[in-house]
Amino acid sequence: MSVKIAPSILASDFANLQKEIEMLNASETDYIHVDIMDGVFVPNISFGIPVTEAVKRHAKKPLDVHLMIVNPDQYLEAFKNAGAAIISVHYEACTHLHRTLQAIKQLGCKAGVALNPHTSVELLKDVINDIDLVCIMSVNPGFGGQKFIEQTYPKVKRLKEIILEHGASTEIEIDGGVNKDNAPLLRAAGADVLVAGSFVFNSPDPIQTIKTLKAIE
Ligand code: DX5
Ligand code: ZN
Repeated sequence: MSVKIAPSILASDFANLQKEIEMLNASETDYIHVDIMDGVFVPNISFGIPVTEAVKRHAKKPLDVHLMIVNPDQYLEAFKNAGAAIISVHYEACTHLHRTLQAIKQLGCKAGVALNPHTSVELLKDVINDIDLVCIMSVNPGFGGQKFIEQTYPKVKRLKEIILEHGASTEIEIDGGVNKDNAPLLRAAGADVLVAGSFVFNSPDPIQTIKTLKAIE
């Protein structure tokens, strides 16, 4: 199966959000990545539930909601109702991760776990069969346009081994600083989904850029 591409609308033109979503609908985008930042878990505030609902009204692709917030349990239902197909919570923000994963699934969404760069993939071994998607952060969450952290490659490889060892069907997503140079290496390491914000939206022809990423073997 080809790699999935999840453009992050954090890098889109918020004043023309409908146009940006229509561009993604017309492209080979697999998921629309929606970055929610609360100014507490991460040192930045992005947007929240009403904007997610507005995106959903135009989106023809599933919304992949990345919650960079404390107390995510409190907002799972609101994001489900806003249109999320996948909800990812941060490992570092969840005291009872197993319970949170079940709550996401009970809402009918796919359950994701995001890991900060310092968090080891080994910590997911005991819950890997409960996780639909692991989002490996390849930058410190909070901002678009940051430099890719090279230590991501061995992390992806090790997570792929863990998934295979447990017979799990978990997807591996990479988020932060993804571009055409690191994408083939990430794919070779075992990545299933590539998030790309600035690389897509700052390019002269985003539809073609998505096509280029999607064509990676
Ligand atoms: C970072 C976000 C990312 C970010 C990716 O906190 O989770 O999704 O928008 O943007 P780029 O591709 O510009 O690093
Ligand atoms: Zn993200």
